[in-house]
Amino acid sequence: MAQVSLKDVSKVFPGGNKAVDRVTLGIENKEFMVLVGPSGCGKSTTLRMVAGLEEVTRGEIYIGDKMVNEVPAKDRDIAMVFQNYALYPHMTVFENMAFGLGLRKYPKNEIIQRVNEAADILNIKHILNRKPRELSGGERQRVAVGRAIVRKPLVFLFDEPLSNLDAKLRGEIRTEIHKLHIRLQTTIIYVTHDQTEAMTMGDRIAVMKGGVIQQVADPITIYDYPKNKFVAGFIGSPPMNFMSGSIIKKDGRVYFDEGKIQVKVVEDMHKKIAPYIGKEVIFGIRSEDIYDKMFVSEAPPENIVRANCEVVEPMGAEVYLYLNSGKHTFIARVGAHDRPRVNQDMDLVFDMSKAHFFDKKTEETIC
Ligand SMILES: Nc1ncnc2c1ncn2[C@@H]1O[C@H](COP(=O)(O)OP(=O)(O)O)[C@@H](O)[C@H]1O
Ligand SMILES: [Mg+2]
Repeated sequence: MAQVSLKDVSKVFPGGNKAVDRVTLGIENKEFMVLVGPSGCGKSTTLRMVAGLEEVTRGEIYIGDKMVNEVPAKDRDIAMVFQNYALYPHMTVFENMAFGLGLRKYPKNEIIQRVNEAADILNIKHILNRKPRELSGGERQRVAVGRAIVRKPLVFLFDEPLSNLDAKLRGEIRTEIHKLHIRLQTTIIYVTHDQTEAMTMGDRIAVMKGGVIQQVADPITIYDYPKNKFVAGFIGSPPMNFMSGSIIKKDGRVYFDEGKIQVKVVEDMHKKIAPYIGKEVIFGIRSEDIYDKMFVSEAPPENIVRANCEVVEPMGAEVYLYLNSGKHTFIARVGAHDRPRVNQDMDLVFDMSKAHFFDKKTEETIC
């Protein structure tokens, strides 16, 4: 069993920089956990502490049932794949993959068998005799992953392994790592700043900011029920639209009022939004929850927003509209054939059942 748990783990670097702040996180056996957050938020430091490459300032780390704070990296039974997968340039792919096993004095036939097995899984059997300089970026990254799998570790740690690859290859290898997880059935902790990788790969996602974990949940829960404005804005592409304004009550109805835009709050949200009547809030709505009124058969009149269409961005399967309502700009994601004219006013419909509201001061989710 290879569950990993971090209990109240902090890292303060000499000089007082608190890179990781009281992180408590449990990764289950065979789980694919993604740590995601902007650059500098403490992801690598967290991973390096699990690997044993960085000392823990406070707190405890467990691999399986064993507290590993004092266990050296080489004895932790984990393998790590980095962004800068330094392969030994003078060794062949086979030798690169075999190197760690050789150090550990595995018998020769076992080494050959493990390297071949890994090469098979990663589709690199045909390049085993090449040197790294004769490989493409994607092939090199596969070799780096291969070097980790031959060890058959209890836990895999990945630190932004796809960052150096071009977009198409990133997508391909992302799928491969996903398949690899299904096939190998090991525990994986995967660090990335890319929310798409987090959404598509993780069984669960831990979103970090400023050394602090903001929310841990499965991708859909994170997307639909972000805990605060930061998570709401970080996960999802294009990012959630935000507008500041206030909650008002008129003729027994509750509205979000931005000055120019006024939309009705659905009844399901009344209870939670009630304490904010007469107060400022931040309203959030995702681009796919804003529709072009032309294509909506029965639009509730109180949720129609008039805005100027500044840019039309065809994406192939869909179209992004960059809209301006005077006080705020926002993005709507509409159907592939919707091509409104640029610089014209148009009517949009906000799906208020999908609205999000955040406390202006704490930025915590209200509903
Ligand atoms: N060896 C170090 N000494 C001092 N500060 C460090 C060191 N390594 C990282 N940091 C700082 O710790 C913070 C978190 O870094 P890091 O974990 O690398 O973030 P991420 O991987 O999320 O980009 C950053 O402010 C970074 O500058
Ligand atoms: Mg990093």
